[in-house]
Amino acid sequence: MPLSLHRDELIRSSNFIAAAWVPAASGRVFDVVDPADNTLVTRVPDSGAADARAAVDAAHAAFPSWRTTPARDRARVLRRWHALILGHQEDLGRLISREQGKPLAEGRGEVAYAASYVEWFAEEATRTYGDVIPEPVRGRKMLVVKEAVGVVAAITPWNFPAAMIARKIAPALAAGCTVVCKPAEDTPLTSLALVRLAEEAGLPPGVLNIVTASRERTPEVVDVWLADPRVRKVTFTGSTPVGKHLARESAATLKKVSLELGGNAPFIVFDDADLDAAVDGLMAAKFRNGGQTCVSPNRVYVQAGIHDRFVEKLAARVGALAVGPATEAGSQIGPMINARAVAKIEQHVADAVALGATVEVGGTRVRQADGPHYIAPTVLAEATAAMLLAREETFGPVVPVFRFHDEAGVIAAANDTPFGLAAYFYSRDIARVWRVADALESGIVGINEGAIAAEAAPFGGVKESGYGREGSRYGLEDYMHTKYLCQGGLA
Ligand code: SIN
Repeated sequence: MPLSLHRDELIRSSNFIAAAWVPAASGRVFDVVDPADNTLVTRVPDSGAADARAAVDAAHAAFPSWRTTPARDRARVLRRWHALILGHQEDLGRLISREQGKPLAEGRGEVAYAASYVEWFAEEATRTYGDVIPEPVRGRKMLVVKEAVGVVAAITPWNFPAAMIARKIAPALAAGCTVVCKPAEDTPLTSLALVRLAEEAGLPPGVLNIVTASRERTPEVVDVWLADPRVRKVTFTGSTPVGKHLARESAATLKKVSLELGGNAPFIVFDDADLDAAVDGLMAAKFRNGGQTCVSPNRVYVQAGIHDRFVEKLAARVGALAVGPATEAGSQIGPMINARAVAKIEQHVADAVALGATVEVGGTRVRQADGPHYIAPTVLAEATAAMLLAREETFGPVVPVFRFHDEAGVIAAANDTPFGLAAYFYSRDIARVWRVADALESGIVGINEGAIAAEAAPFGGVKESGYGREGSRYGLEDYMHTKYLCQGGLA
């Protein structure tokens, strides 16, 4: 089906460098495919080192002027961008659904979520206050100011093609940084459309540049950015192995780095929990974007006293989820992003079953006549720590349920992972609430709540889930230096 929008001009198939829409220097392109059925949507530039360098040249040249643009004026551009994003919510939602596969209602929701970050950072741009320090000796003035770090390289993921780019680029622009961006190869179209809207919002030439690249050629682009001393910050959302590589390579020029990496979120339901609220919370947290979310619960621990009732209610809810193409009315779970994702999910299910898990619902591919990437929402009971899905992020609509007996044991199990992005628990015992919240090794903790992300809140992990925060005032600080000014001779 050809891709068609209210405003077809938002379907871009070029890089944007120094305010010009340009092909890759090599002229190469790669296919963007619909994850529902692997059909071609369009082709975009398969950029390489020359394009990556041109983008940094543009961002570097634009930096002196943008960093000294009054914060109020930077905020105005961001506000216009925010209005344009919301004004094109339907088109952007369609783009997201088409290239990423999430149901259209979720695609529209993601646009609103992305816009909320742009609005938040438009507001924060004017509040990057420093300090005046009471001088310890006579005759001095001592001040602290916040400064934009410089050119930022933003490498964004496929699972939230609008929200993740907004969450990185809006604070960078608010702080006075200029940006080079490479969106995920699976989902470049939403990013290109957002950049087109940023251009329309009045962003000066060179302030925001974007280059697209295939999976094979991405390292060529990123290596140029990592090696270039003019790039002062790298921000990345994606896998932990790639994040570690970026951190290692950034060390050579001591770039500032923010990494939002893999998770393995525990979701704990204690005997004293509100059972229905816990099932609702799990459904919201787990099945957003078909489970392809870094903060998706990956291990569900349910205390023995309510375990069986919980599994029964959960299986009924999960079994009722509608799987189908993004555009099908009522679809709640779209296709997985690609064949690699499907293979990993199937491997996790097969391994769990081989090691004794029981399939309460789902467990197979469905709708195969519509495409190869549809997985039935699945509940597995009797999960154990020996299973692959206890150690690795499944990134799909599979809920493994582990039975537990006591608080200390479940905390130890929840923390027994190198990751620490999100964790959730349900309990009505107020003392336990604070004990468990303290004990969980995680950057984000949902307490009797499954929907934890918000533009005003710091998003990010601990341990091998990365460092740095996105969203909130902490998200802005990640794009700034602290500079100390000391004036003497005043006595
Ligand atoms: C992610 O999966 O990386 C982001 C999810 C979110 O913002 O909630």
